Amino acid sequence: MNPEKLKHDVKQYWNNTPCGTEFIGQQKFSPAYFAAIEEFRYRIEPEIFGFAQFTRFHDKKVLEVGIGAGTDFVQWVRAGAQSYGVDLTEQAVAHVTHRLQLLNLHAADVRVADAENLPYDDNMFDLVYSWGVIHHSPDTYKSLTELIRVTKPSGRIKVMIYNRNSLFAFYRYFQMALLKGKPFWSVKKVLHHHQESPGTKAFTFREVRKMLTRLPVKIVQLKAPVTQHDLLYYKARPFKWIAYALACLFGWNSVGWFMMIEVERV
Ligand SMILES: C[S@@+](CC[C@H](N)C(=O)[O-])C[C@H]1O[C@@H](n2cnc3c(N)ncnc32)[C@H](O)[C@@H]1O
Repeated sequence: MNPEKLKHDVKQYWNNTPCGTEFIGQQKFSPAYFAAIEEFRYRIEPEIFGFAQFTRFHDKKVLEVGIGAGTDFVQWVRAGAQSYGVDLTEQAVAHVTHRLQLLNLHAADVRVADAENLPYDDNMFDLVYSWGVIHHSPDTYKSLTELIRVTKPSGRIKVMIYNRNSLFAFYRYFQMALLKGKPFWSVKKVLHHHQESPGTKAFTFREVRKMLTRLPVKIVQLKAPVTQHDLLYYKARPFKWIAYALACLFGWNSVGWFMMIEVERV
């Protein structure tokens, strides 16, 4: 598909379904609405705290790319970082603007912008953070180069993208290919058509290492720990037991759906 058309469809998807809001019953933009989004997110994805380490960036210049409903973004602001945030969608910016107002917090800049073409100067940020975003953008490599471009030398880039060789990706293949009588579909194709916005990608460690060797960065950590998503927290017990057994077999730090990449700009 033409990348501009795909980006338009990605934008439309996330404007209609801002991330993490789909199961929230409370009135949109109310304090209860934002509290429910935050409570659910960190119950299911507690590993975000260990990876982001929000409080270590007090007074630092931090850019979050793909703010979504703003749950992590609010943590940067609460931690006293000079916080800049962008997202492809107007809905994300509206969520974050309302949320900051309700909490009486102030960010340096929140705006609509594309990860593939960031509206910031080179070498501007101490940290660029992006959780679950650039695999949705048609050109993930271009997004990565942009995240690195705006980071200061010796600054950090922390990115989460999906891991194709993960328990969750395998589960989606089982569900959307095997059970639907399409065993010849690849995991890639299943994710492209059936995982959140159209065109979603997932990468292997090898592919990520290959991308990173072409860029001015040094790897600090690269891991994919098994999380609640891989352990199918919303399924019946037999599914969870199978997932648990597979995690023991294949490795708790490598077959998780969330591939966490931390690099230093050189
Ligand atoms: C799965 S949500 C993640 C949001 C947030 N980081 C979170 O973890 O809740 C994906 C987000 O990426 C945004 N996004 C997708 N492509 C983008 C791009 N090219 N530039 C900026 N944001 C993008 C979407 O609008 C959406 O808000």
